Amino acid sequence: MERVPTGIEGLDNMIEGGFPRGRTVLLSGGCGTGKSIFGMQFLYQGAALHGEPGLYVTVDERPELTRQDMLRFGWDIKKLEDEGKLVILDLTGTKTGVQSEEKYSMSSAMDIDRLVLKIMQTAGEIGARRLVIDSVPALGIRMKDEMEVRNMILKLTYMIRKSDLTAVLISEIPEQTMGAGPMKFSKYGVEEYVADSVILLHYIGMGTDTNRTLYIRKMRGTKHVEDIIPLQISTTGIKLVNPEEAFSV
Ligand SMILES: Nc1ncnc2c1ncn2[C@@H]1O[C@H](COP(=O)(O)OP(=O)(O)OP(=O)(O)O)[C@@H](O)[C@H]1O
Ligand SMILES: [Mg+2]
Repeated sequence: MERVPTGIEGLDNMIEGGFPRGRTVLLSGGCGTGKSIFGMQFLYQGAALHGEPGLYVTVDERPELTRQDMLRFGWDIKKLEDEGKLVILDLTGTKTGVQSEEKYSMSSAMDIDRLVLKIMQTAGEIGARRLVIDSVPALGIRMKDEMEVRNMILKLTYMIRKSDLTAVLISEIPEQTMGAGPMKFSKYGVEEYVADSVILLHYIGMGTDTNRTLYIRKMRGTKHVEDIIPLQISTTGIKLVNPEEAFSV
């Protein structure tokens, strides 16, 4: 199986070299756990280091703010956009109804088929190899019921699977205590089954240096680390820390 280097420092050697090519990864976590940074890092490094064009679909955050925030890690998104290696598709308008000034955008009311088509068309147009959707629940916010959202998720993952894109789908889950009732992996409870991999990000507010973690719940076709991995957000983005190193005194 071909592997896609993730661009996340320390992750590739825990998953046999990278994400399985052409498959989908569900990235779930509570607010502020680093989901968006992870998503952008995957695309930025893919475009900058591996020549793989990427498409970032944003529903929650305005592209302007994302570009600004990512500069903190030394990632010049605008430069890659100018070089045609990275595209931000602005779907914030589908939530707010406000017209976007971005080159790639869509702001009219939600129609599942148009939405999925727009994403796939944009990916095709730029020859994208990597796709990030930030986030899937936000895409569904204006839909009339959960059935419709599930239908959208199924269509979207079906289309992604048909393409050769390696995709990271971001989903929010409320912060939950391990062991307190059944674990939730996604908002609608279908994402984890349609995705080939599930990665969970956690923020544990314990006042120590290392209070963020990453956990690989599944990765089809891959022998992966099963420990809870300490994660840091540094000046160069997200990096995983060898557990022995992090907890040693
Ligand atoms: N330059 C930075 N250096 C260190 N930590 C940072 C930096 N920028 C952001 N962070 C941390 O990352 C968090 C935001 O990460 P990110 O936006 O990826 O989270 P998220 O999971 O997408 O959150 P949300 O659910 O709100 O979308 C911040 O709350 C902060 O703790
Ligand atoms: Mg986010």
